[in-house]
Amino acid sequence: MNQKKVIIDCDPGIDDSLALMLALKSKELDVIGITIVCGNAPVEMGFENAKKILKQIDRLDVPIYIGERKPMKRDYIHALDTHGEDGLGESFLPQVDGYEQEMGAVDFFASILKKEKVSVIALGPMTNLAALIKQDPGAFEQIEELVSMGGTFKSYGNCSPVAEYNYWCDPDAAALVYDTMYEKGKRIHMIGLDVTRKIVLTPTILEYICRLDKKMGDFIKKITKFYFDFHWEWEHIVGCVINDPLAVAYFIDRNMCQGFDSFVQIETQGISLGQSVVDSMSFYRKEPNAKVLTEVDPQRFFRFFLSRLLEIETEKLDLLQDM
Ligand code: RIB
Ligand code: CA
Repeated sequence: MNQKKVIIDCDPGIDDSLALMLALKSKELDVIGITIVCGNAPVEMGFENAKKILKQIDRLDVPIYIGERKPMKRDYIHALDTHGEDGLGESFLPQVDGYEQEMGAVDFFASILKKEKVSVIALGPMTNLAALIKQDPGAFEQIEELVSMGGTFKSYGNCSPVAEYNYWCDPDAAALVYDTMYEKGKRIHMIGLDVTRKIVLTPTILEYICRLDKKMGDFIKKITKFYFDFHWEWEHIVGCVINDPLAVAYFIDRNMCQGFDSFVQIETQGISLGQSVVDSMSFYRKEPNAKVLTEVDPQRFFRFFLSRLLEIETEKLDLLQDM
C-alpha cells in the first residue's frame, strides 16, 4: 500500500488526541510530523499532551514541533473549560521527557513542503498555516491536500450562534488560509460542525470498546470523562462529540462524507466573527475555494474508527449497527 505523507497540525485537546491515535494506527498514513498550535490548550501544554498520547500508543518515533503561541491578531482564548485544566480531560497523565526542539512548526512546514508531496490535516486554529503563508508562501502552495476541521455551514456555532472554535479563536488566520486557497485556485476540505456534530461517542460505544480492548477503552474513558460531563452540562448530550477524528477518517476515506464545492470566506470582525460564510448559491460568482462537507454516515465512521484503534477487521464489529 502506498502511504500518504501527512502532517497533523493540532491543539491537543481531547478530540485531537483521539484523532492522533486514529491517524497513527491507520496504515494508509505516514505521519511525518505533528505540529502544535495554540487552541484548546496553550501551545506548551498541547506539546506535552501530544507526547503523552504518542507514549500511550508507543509512537514516540514521530517528531513533534511547537508552533504559534498566540493568534495572528486577536487575544488568545483557550478552551480548557471544555478540555480540562491539563487539556486532556484532567487525566493528569505523567509528563513525557524528550523532544528537544531543533526547529519550530513553521520552519518544519517550510523545510518539508519544499522537498516532498505532503498533505496537512489541520485540527486546530490555523495560526501555524497562516504564519507559513506569511513566511514562505511558496511552501504553503506545495501542500498536496489540506483538510481542516473547522467552520460550520448550517449547524449552529459552538463559540457564538454562528462561529466554530477553530475559526473563532483565530479568524484572521482562517481568513488568510481561505483567501490564499482562492488566489491559488485550490480547495480546502472543510469538515465543519454540520458533519462532526453527528459523530457522538456514546457510553454504549465506549463500553463496547472496553469489552473489545480493555487497555484502549480505559484510556479513552480516562481522557473523555471530563468531555462527557461538559457535553451533558452544556448541550444535554449523553456522550461527547468527537470532531477531529472525522477529519482524519475523511482524509483516508473520502466516501465518509458528502458535500459540495463552494466559495467560502471567514468573517474577521463584529458579531459574526469567525463565521465561515459559505456562498452555496454562488451569489458572488466566485470560483470555489473549498469543499464543504455536510453529510456523514456515523456508522461508517465508528466502524472505521474502532477497526483501526482496536486493530480489528471491520466485519467483526458486528454490534455497532445496533448502536
Ligand atoms: O470546534 C471544535 C474544534 O475546536 C475541535 O478541533 C476541538 O479540538 C477544538 O480545537
Ligand atoms: Ca482540535
